[in-house]
Amino acid sequence: MTETDLVALLQEGRRRERAQTLYYRRLTGLAEEANDPVTAERLNALLADEQHHMSRLTARLLEMGVRAEPVDTPPVPDVPLDAWEDDARRREQEEVGWYEEAVAMVSDAPTRTALIEILSSEKHHRDELGGKWMPASRQSPDGDEEG
Ligand SMILES: [Fe+2]
Ligand SMILES: [Fe+2]
Repeated sequence: MTETDLVALLQEGRRRERAQTLYYRRLTGLAEEANDPVTAERLNALLADEQHHMSRLTARLLEMGVRAEPVDTPPVPDVPLDAWEDDARRREQEEVGWYEEAVAMVSDAPTRTALIEILSSEKHHRDELGGKWMPASRQSPDGDEEG
C-alpha cells in the first residue's frame, strides 16, 4: 500500500467515525428527551468511543505529517429510539468488517496498532452495545476531537 493509499484509508476511516459519532449523538439526544438516563448513558459512552476513534485516526495522519482534511457531514439516519439496538448492532458489524479489511491491507506498524485497537473496541460495541472500550493511555491530546 502506498502512502497515498494509506492516507486515503485513514480519511475514509475518519469519515466513517464521524458518521458513527453523529449517529450516537442524535440517539443520545432522543434518550435524554425520553427521560431514559440509562439508555442515554450507554449511547453517550458509545459516542465518546467513536469520537476517540476519530481522534486516533486524526493523530495518526498528523504523525505522518499529513494535514487531516475536514470530512463531510453525512446524513444521519432517522432510526427511532426503540429500534436503536438492532440498527446499531448492524452498523457496528459493518465497522468491524471495515477495520478487519483495513488491518489486513495495512503494513505500516503504527497505523496497524491504531487500527487493531479500534477494531477491538468496535467488536465490544457490536457485542455489548456499550462504550468506554478505548484504553485511556491512548487518549489523543485535547483539541484533536471532532464531531
Ligand atoms: Fe468507531
Ligand atoms: Fe463503534
